[in-house]
Amino acid sequence: MKRLEGKSALITGSARGIGRAFAEAYVREGATVAIADINIERAKETAAEIGPAAYAVEIDVTRQDSIDAAVAAVVGRAGGLDILINNAALFDLAPIVEITRESYEKLFSINVAGTLFTMQAAAKQMIAQGRGGKIINMASQAGRRGEALVAVYCATKAAVISLTQSAGLDLIKHRINVNAIAPGVVDGEHWEGVDALFARYENRPLGEKKRLVGEAVPYGRMGTAEDLTGMAIFLASSESDYVVAQTYNVDGGNWMS
Ligand SMILES: NC(=O)c1ccc[n+]([C@@H]2O[C@H](COP(=O)([O-])OP(=O)(O)OC[C@H]3O[C@@H](n4cnc5c(N)ncnc54)[C@H](O)[C@@H]3O)[C@@H](O)[C@H]2O)c1
Repeated sequence: MKRLEGKSALITGSARGIGRAFAEAYVREGATVAIADINIERAKETAAEIGPAAYAVEIDVTRQDSIDAAVAAVVGRAGGLDILINNAALFDLAPIVEITRESYEKLFSINVAGTLFTMQAAAKQMIAQGRGGKIINMASQAGRRGEALVAVYCATKAAVISLTQSAGLDLIKHRINVNAIAPGVVDGEHWEGVDALFARYENRPLGEKKRLVGEAVPYGRMGTAEDLTGMAIFLASSESDYVVAQTYNVDGGNWMS
């Protein structure tokens, strides 16, 4: 029995990385999935590779008109919206004395405002449909505690955990479950950029930071995007109906809370 049979899902930032793995997993479980990304060309390629149950939708989560158009596109294509994953995010790294307003505003605009207002647009649609829904926000172990060089990104992910709590409590009366996933370190294109930033600021050879963070995981290696799909399926399925406003660590044992 497929666990998401007939469901319509929208996943932001799913042209690559973790979002793409979620899309593949949801399609395997019977859902129709909008590959929603600012990089529409890559989103189209990804959708074509996944197959007919996936389709590309352009979204810039920093623009309200773009969020609204993406939700309308999903409703037009799939007849409704049952599952949202707020997955699009940006990372940056700098010591406190070098943080720029530009970086701060960009990260908060995508990671926090993007999550809040995409969640709002999806919730309005789900409330109008009257059959509940599932919203999953991508937090991070970075949202559990600060890191010397990662102040802004950590703060955005702490905000995502807090928004998940408030929205979870507000929306459960509509039978909309809002929960979050907090990954640890997940290998992929994203971490190539993270590694390069650490190499610059910690004066390391390329690849060293990535090796070290992998070795430090209690499980013994970095995560893969596929390591997260079980939780993403559970939180989108009816099995999680009584799970409200939680953030789940899926990180190989890095964090306990
Ligand atoms: N990779 C990790 O180690 C890790 C760890 C913890 C949490 N996370 C979180 O998991 C999620 C996915 O991470 P990933 O590693 O797959 O990231 P990624 O950088 O590989 O993918 C992010 C996607 O978001 C898209 N995007 C960027 N700005 C956008 C915008 N304004 N509107 C719409 N789409 C936009 C990008 O085009 C890209 O396809 C993120 O929320 C990230 O913070 C990742």
